[in-house]
Amino acid sequence: MTISGLTRDVPADAAPAPGRAPLRLALLGFGTVGQAVARILTERTDVADRLRLTQVFNRDVARKRVSWTPADVAWTDSFDAVLAADPDVIVEVVGGVETAGTWVRRALARGISVVTANKLLMAAHGPELMTLAVEHGAHLRFEAAVAGGVPVIDAIRSGLAGDRFTRVAGILNGTCNYILSRMESGESMAGALADAQLRGFAEADPSSDVDGQDATAKLVLLAGVAFGRHVPAAQVATASIRRIDAIDFQYARRLGRTFRQLSIVESDGSGALRASVGPVLVPASSRFARNTGAQNLILITGRHGGATALSGEGAGGSPTAVAVVSDLLALSRVPANVAGPMERPWEPGCVIPPHATAYYLRFVVRDRPGILAAITTALARYDINVDAVLQERGFPKDQLPFVVTVEPCEVPALTAAMADVQAEGFHAEPPLVVPVLPEEDDAAPVQ
Ligand SMILES: NC(=O)c1ccc[n+]([C@@H]2O[C@H](COP(=O)([O-])OP(=O)(O)OC[C@H]3O[C@@H](n4cnc5c(N)ncnc54)[C@H](OP(=O)(O)O)[C@@H]3O)[C@@H](O)[C@H]2O)c1
Repeated sequence: MTISGLTRDVPADAAPAPGRAPLRLALLGFGTVGQAVARILTERTDVADRLRLTQVFNRDVARKRVSWTPADVAWTDSFDAVLAADPDVIVEVVGGVETAGTWVRRALARGISVVTANKLLMAAHGPELMTLAVEHGAHLRFEAAVAGGVPVIDAIRSGLAGDRFTRVAGILNGTCNYILSRMESGESMAGALADAQLRGFAEADPSSDVDGQDATAKLVLLAGVAFGRHVPAAQVATASIRRIDAIDFQYARRLGRTFRQLSIVESDGSGALRASVGPVLVPASSRFARNTGAQNLILITGRHGGATALSGEGAGGSPTAVAVVSDLLALSRVPANVAGPMERPWEPGCVIPPHATAYYLRFVVRDRPGILAAITTALARYDINVDAVLQERGFPKDQLPFVVTVEPCEVPALTAAMADVQAEGFHAEPPLVVPVLPEEDDAAPVQ
């Protein structure tokens, strides 16, 4: 059986569609998320009239088999066998872009709906897969791909759909937030990262988290859902948190601020978007600063309703599985004979440069007279006004850190000024440049 037509989102906790048999589910991938999905489906006997796990697919599946799933579940390592059984929905929790993408395409092309947690696949091929789903009367849902258990996609599509969105800004990577909030309490970057790895928040190779690719993929999906535009990940201005140092938190404290990795997409009102991911200096009193540990926090801002905040567990098997099962329950509510608008496949997005903003510039220099004058002269050359200069005592003269904050300026001017500054011979390491979130920004005023 396939689900025909496009339908509006239906509350997940509503009664099942009248006369509909339970959806037969094939689970692709029996890893962290896949096992957590199977657990919920097995334990939630109250939804057995809507959702039935019928197949589990994984490579070398014999070593994956467990005794706690229903006895009639078929275990297979053949995707052809999955398709041959004609499930109603495929739950893709394998990950990766190429192979998983091939399976998702093959399923959608047969009219089989897909629920996926795969941010990389959706960020790379979302519009194409959505078009395929529309053409074949299938559904494609991906709540779990952004912010794990936080229902941000559902909030944008349903709860806040009456608004006209101006911006979505958030902490979308729990690993970065954990590291930065540990550093706030005096931990080094290396120590905070090792701790995150020990607790299972960070992978052995943390590059995708700390360098921003994970959050960028999620931001691409939020841009699609909130603004109907596909912004390729390569067009999102992405910066790593790696260069934030313990000393930066000392300076941030003096400025009444702290660092968070923020992902921001905003509309200019005419279809063009600004999109960025990276460290931002946020007010210590802001909601972003108060969001500590591995939690995610998303502020969705609309023209009419102002800012709405959602926060919670952005990763982990169980929270992510909740999002997957919620998508499945929503599908179970779709009457088979109802066709109607879902979202259209995202159109190509046009990305424009960021607003003029204030910046935090941290230098580490081999001290000698005239350094500050050289920096302020270079900034003045491009019409950039210095706001403050801060220097902590007690550092060696050949490794002297100090900070200059500048008033709002455009990126090209700052880039040119910093190129001039970097050409000077006094640097012990390259300068760090971090945007500063305006005080009022966190309140996200109604526009
Ligand atoms: N974990 C989270 O907190 C989280 C949160 C949000 C979204 N997600 C997304 O959820 C998806 C799954 O993540 P996960 O953490 O559950 O990953 P995982 O623990 O590595 O599980 C992936 C499963 O897929 C299987 N698999 C991998 N490649 C395969 C192939 N070519 N053929 C057949 N089976 C294959 C793996 O088998 P082996 O055991 O043989 O490797 C493993 O059982 C990813 O897209 C991820 O981005 C995860």
